[in-house]
Amino acid sequence: MVSETLSKKIRIQDKEFELFIPEEEIRTAVGQLAEELKEKLNGKSPLFLIVLNGSFLFASDLVRAFGGPCSVSFIRLKSYQGTDSTGNVRELIGLTEECAGKVVVLVEDIVDTGNTLMALYEKLAEHKPAEVLVTSLFLKPSVYKGKVPVDHVGFKVADKFLVGYGLDYNEIGRNLRDVYVLI
Ligand code: IMP
Ligand code: MG
Repeated sequence: MVSETLSKKIRIQDKEFELFIPEEEIRTAVGQLAEELKEKLNGKSPLFLIVLNGSFLFASDLVRAFGGPCSVSFIRLKSYQGTDSTGNVRELIGLTEECAGKVVVLVEDIVDTGNTLMALYEKLAEHKPAEVLVTSLFLKPSVYKGKVPVDHVGFKVADKFLVGYGLDYNEIGRNLRDVYVLI
């Protein structure tokens, strides 16, 4: 259950969160990311490869803001239990040959240690895309240990646990319009 108070604090199960980034700021950042991508792609039609579950809202806003010709596909790769990274990246579902020769835009909700991203990137490379651009709405630079650049980032954030706009705590909170931080 999600309960909300006037001070924009919410409780999800055993944890309390406070408002961190309101909906309007997220919309502005997503619009800017779409513009950056349009400029970088310069008329090329990319394949947006969307990493479920967390990226579903971000990706739907991003591809609509992008506007130009593109294709869209979904993959799933999960590594989190509760608020701690388990470190071991589990099974990857949905990656197909359609990536071959394409400019692939990997769409992540949040990049934390980078374990998920690196595992994904290596698998993706086996499918021989022409180019890979990594886009994430959030990046935690102080804990990121990945070896590839996160090319397009909406918000660089401290190593705090976030929920909302696709991000969950134990699968709850993904449908919140704003993003909240654990207090
Ligand atoms: P990484 O493998 O440590 O980079 O973690 C990446 C994945 O962990 C993300 O795609 C999210 O699913 C999840 N994650 C990392 N940080 C958070 C957070 O602050 N809130 C919710 N999920 C998170
Ligand atoms: Mg994710």
